[in-house]
Amino acid sequence: MAYNDQDNATLVIFGATGNLSRIKLMPALYLLDKASQLHPQTKILATGRRDWDKERCIEEVRDWIVDSTGVRFDVDVFQRFSRRLDYYRVDYSQSGVWPLLKHYLESETTSDNKQRNIAFYMAIRPAEFGLVIDALGDNGLLMEKAGWRRVVIEKPFGYDLDSAQVLQKRISRHMKEQQIFRIDHYLGKETVQNVNVFRFANTMLEPLWNRNYIDHIQITHSETAGVGTRAAYYDGSGAMRDMIQSHLLQLLSLVAMEPPASMDAEDLRDEKVKVLKSIRPITEEDISTRAFRAQYTGGNIGSEIVRGYLDEQNVPADSRTETYAAMKLYIDNWRWRGVPFYLRTGKRLAQRQSMISICFRHPPQQLFRDVSKEGMKQNWLILGIQPCNCLRMEVTVKEPGLDMQIRQTSLNASLLDEGDVRTDAYEDLLLDILSGDRSLFLRHDEVEYAWRIVDPVIDAWSRDKKPLQTYPAGSWGSPESRVIFDKPQTRWRHSLDPVQ
Ligand SMILES: NC(=O)c1ccc[n+]([C@@H]2O[C@H](COP(=O)([O-])OP(=O)(O)OC[C@H]3O[C@@H](n4cnc5c(N)ncnc54)[C@H](OP(=O)(O)O)[C@@H]3O)[C@@H](O)[C@H]2O)c1
Repeated sequence: MAYNDQDNATLVIFGATGNLSRIKLMPALYLLDKASQLHPQTKILATGRRDWDKERCIEEVRDWIVDSTGVRFDVDVFQRFSRRLDYYRVDYSQSGVWPLLKHYLESETTSDNKQRNIAFYMAIRPAEFGLVIDALGDNGLLMEKAGWRRVVIEKPFGYDLDSAQVLQKRISRHMKEQQIFRIDHYLGKETVQNVNVFRFANTMLEPLWNRNYIDHIQITHSETAGVGTRAAYYDGSGAMRDMIQSHLLQLLSLVAMEPPASMDAEDLRDEKVKVLKSIRPITEEDISTRAFRAQYTGGNIGSEIVRGYLDEQNVPADSRTETYAAMKLYIDNWRWRGVPFYLRTGKRLAQRQSMISICFRHPPQQLFRDVSKEGMKQNWLILGIQPCNCLRMEVTVKEPGLDMQIRQTSLNASLLDEGDVRTDAYEDLLLDILSGDRSLFLRHDEVEYAWRIVDPVIDAWSRDKKPLQTYPAGSWGSPESRVIFDKPQTRWRHSLDPVQ
């Protein structure tokens, strides 16, 4: 096993006592250790405000891993893992803490007495990314003298274009772009990475992958969960900022980009940026036909009765935050001109589903005149991201028998074979951070262009005083969302099941 550049690395997690660390980071690091993917000298320094010591931290982390679904606990592996762990109490609002932390980190040398490489992970409130990075920079903790220094920034990067630019300016005083790892954990998902393999390791589809054969593309991320305990963050954000600006626009750029010169980080990101740059801006006049928003009311998710958004804990009674957002985008380039990309996301929808659905055009000529109209469906290609990690191609075939009747059938490929190990996106991403591979992380210009796309819509919505559209929890959102479709016969593709 080659550990590349992760030798002698310490991963310092700010916010290690928080939710992200509990449900994602610690279980992922433990699983990496279990799979022998962590270098023997890799260390993890958990930091938080809580008055814990190393023993308490190990106890807590042990409980998180035991409780984590999909993780089989192994006492021996955990013992090895716990030897990597330490806890350092840091209240980052106290300036005196930084020289002490610096001293701690510099005294933690490797077994051959070398300085350690350090990755700082910001699992903290987005409003505090700038403050902590300033403190690290001002205290010389980001200078790459004896080893590398990396900073991992969770999403969201900024709140809009202006704030993203301000944050960028602030952090770039202390480090180079190559040191920054902006996470969009969607990019760590197996199926998302498979979009590139599927497109660029097969020749079969490339000739069809353009405006001549594709009618439209739908990208959906639906959740059955409500806002839960995240209202304090979510109510100031909404579905457009929380999901479309980041995950869905990333999926769109992967589906639509040109083949890169190589799969290296810069070549890949150059191509993704070109797509985002080519998206036709949404103007004030066309917002009503290119974007749609709504908010959930009470309803049922399966057999459970759930409350509406306005009745959720910590949501203001007059909140106009959208919990459902959809938009239509056009990519004005040679390949995609005129093909609508429909993006939608929502909370408290009927099913938890993430997928990319590609709808092909009808054949140019209807040769099977006697075939019922319902029989003539368009071909679809579906890439399931979650919960089903799969690929499905819908084609038309003749029904067995003397009559010329046709029907839709599907060719299904599960991306996981029996015995394949399912990994969590954070495992991939943490490994990439330690080994310095930035291809699954966002470059600043990607973030900026994504804000440029959604900002005009968010701005217009903030000024719009009309009553907000609603949808009952457990539904597929308001039928009014179809206002964004170019053709009246277009339907949302809700699931892997064929469109009725
Ligand atoms: N949770 C998720 O599933 C998820 C998913 C994707 C992205 N994210 C992003 O990940 C980040 C963290 O989210 P989260 O849900 O983990 O938040 P969280 O549960 O609220 O945790 C916040 C962390 O920040 C620490 N903290 C707060 N003030 C501090 C201070 N003055 N000094 C030192 N530490 C301080 C807290 O420490 P104490 O508890 O010890 O006070 C806690 O460990 C956010 O940027 C979020 O957007 C989260």
